[in-house]
Amino acid sequence: MAELKSKNLTWHEGQVTRDSREAQLGQRGCTIWLTGLSGSGKSTIAVAAEKALNDRGKLTYILDGDNIRHGLNSNLGFSPEDRSENIRRIGEVAKLFTDAGVIVFTSFISPYRTDRDRVREIMGEGDFLEVYVAASLETCEGRDVKGLYAKARKGEIPEFTGISAPYEEPEAPELVVDTNGRSVEESVAQLVEHLEKKGYLSA
Ligand code: ADX
Repeated sequence: MAELKSKNLTWHEGQVTRDSREAQLGQRGCTIWLTGLSGSGKSTIAVAAEKALNDRGKLTYILDGDNIRHGLNSNLGFSPEDRSENIRRIGEVAKLFTDAGVIVFTSFISPYRTDRDRVREIMGEGDFLEVYVAASLETCEGRDVKGLYAKARKGEIPEFTGISAPYEEPEAPELVVDTNGRSVEESVAQLVEHLEKKGYLSA
């Protein structure tokens, strides 16, 4: 737990439990933490997987790197400290959504192992699924959907993950989705099958 700056705080319990919310929704709340290089396919997979689950009547939500950096985390950049704070805040938000019974997809590079591990620690057992969206730097740079790798190579973007800033691969993720030469549909099918098998799609 992070150090508390405030004293005299009292935790309030509600009358509606997480179990009852999940029973109402017919699913188990969880956070599917997609991590990987820029361009590895995190956001694409999150969007397609969310649609697949929504079609099955599941309540989902996506927390996406570029989007969250427009609002909640608009005061953060890409230094190691700012990336840590980015992930810490997202972790707390994802924890709240998970407690609400929602199936959450997060799509952040989240390059540092300790930051991801910290999120795992604050979440309940089984609530956090680390999914490594694996694509080689060559693949991501070849795609260069946003044109950022080209800019980073020219030195126009400092601290760019994979070029001038590190990416630490997960050591024991719940799932590895390898997107090198694979279709979005195949990746989504693998992910949804995993959720099904682990019982997240029923209360
Ligand atoms: S994280 O490292 O803190 O997890 P996050 O996922 O929020 O990063 O944001 C990554 C997105 O920001 C990338 O997909 C890219 O569009 C953009 N971006 C801008 N500058 C950088 C940078 N220096 N390194 C990585 N991504 C960057």
